[in-house]
Amino acid sequence: MRINVEDMETKHIDKVIALDKKIAHNPWSKLMFLEELTLNSFCRVLTDEYGDILGYGVSRLLVDEWHMLTVGVKSDFRRQGYGKRLVEDVIRKAALNYSQAILLEVRSSNTIAINLYKKLGFETLHIREQYYKSSSVPEDAVVMKRLVKEGDRELFS
Ligand SMILES: CC(C)(COP(=O)(O)OP(=O)(O)OC[C@H]1O[C@@H](n2cnc3c(N)ncnc32)[C@H](O)[C@@H]1OP(=O)(O)O)[C@@H](O)C(=O)NCCC(=O)NCCS
Repeated sequence: MRINVEDMETKHIDKVIALDKKIAHNPWSKLMFLEELTLNSFCRVLTDEYGDILGYGVSRLLVDEWHMLTVGVKSDFRRQGYGKRLVEDVIRKAALNYSQAILLEVRSSNTIAINLYKKLGFETLHIREQYYKSSSVPEDAVVMKRLVKEGDRELFS
């Protein structure tokens, strides 16, 4: 099956929202996705040859750092390198933009995502205690950072 990473467009939004609702801890509203598109954030989708959405990622540039706001891969397509591909895509974008770093925050219980980020060179910057208050038990956020390195442009092209 041919799978691509491409720019998210308004035509993708309904399918992205449907997937996000299934897999995200705190799903985004349609307005949140639309806002990122209008802000010219780096919004990407992983699509199959039939136009189905298998994954997505949204990152926003603040000054000279990219903030990865969300990333997700459809359950049946996990553990096949697609999450890595979406994060590498952000690293490459940051390198092409001459940005300094990529930042993100992740629930401390989300060891799968933390493993993915560590694998790609992210390091823990600090812990925001009890940051996620939506669950019955508040959860810490792990703030992670990866500096853009020389060679990142070529590495993931
Ligand atoms: C996190 C997520 C995007 C990973 O997507 P994926 O396509 O399965 O990830 P990959 O196949 O690229 O895996 C890359 C690395 O992540 C880690 N990883 C992935 N799945 C894992 C699992 N089940 N257990 C432990 N580590 C895992 C591994 O280090 C893996 O490298 P390896 O396969 O060489 O061991 C996916 O699990 C997801 O959508 N989760 C729900 C949404 C979410 O939590 N998003 C992150 C919010 S901060």
